[in-house]
Amino acid sequence: MINVGGLGMNFLVLYSTIEGQTRKIAEAVASHLETQGHMVMLTDANQVGFADPGTSDGAILCAPVHIGRYPSPFVHYVHDWGTVLNDMPSAFISVSLSIASADEEEKTEARDYPVRLADETGWKPRFVLHCAGALKYTEYDFFKRWMLKRIASAEGGPIDTKHDHELTNWTEIKRFVDDILRALVKERNLAGE
Ligand SMILES: Cc1cc2nc3c(=O)[nH]c(=O)nc-3n(C[C@H](O)[C@H](O)[C@H](O)COP(=O)(O)O)c2cc1C
Repeated sequence: MINVGGLGMNFLVLYSTIEGQTRKIAEAVASHLETQGHMVMLTDANQVGFADPGTSDGAILCAPVHIGRYPSPFVHYVHDWGTVLNDMPSAFISVSLSIASADEEEKTEARDYPVRLADETGWKPRFVLHCAGALKYTEYDFFKRWMLKRIASAEGGPIDTKHDHELTNWTEIKRFVDDILRALVKERNLAGE
């Protein structure tokens, strides 16, 4: 447990997902924050309504890469709220397959997606985690299964299409959240709050 001087903070955890893995990651982030004594608003970017990040002490956004892009509702959200997010502690978990690749070029490409998002929207998160997602072969239609198997094969990933493969490192996610909390507590202490 990270000591925040008895003060729990409020976090917005906003995610976008197509196949469900990023929702699972966002839920893990939210649940870890809650076990550390913080309050969380967990929101799907497809149903944001009035998810104003400015009312939180920090925002952790999570989105997956699909065919080289983050989902449009997520990009729109970040575009609309980028200025507010830049004025507060914000973090981004970028979920992809290529970050788990054996090929360095693919990994570099994965690391470049958040840079391109920043160029497109102006949002510059202070903390970024590149997180491997999942291959849900049993849930894909024929074309998706074929395409993802080809990509996985090129990247040295799992190609057994009879099973799903979760590549997400849950310990790494908790460590990332802990690092953010430590940084925020340090800032609060320095500001004398
Ligand atoms: C149709 C499709 C396209 C994908 N395209 C990419 C891609 O361009 N780059 C990449 O690194 N991962 C790609 N992935 C892998 C996803 O990022 C990974 O499966 C992730 O877990 C999906 O998150 P979600 O379940 O929240 O949608 C793709 C996955 C699918 C199903």
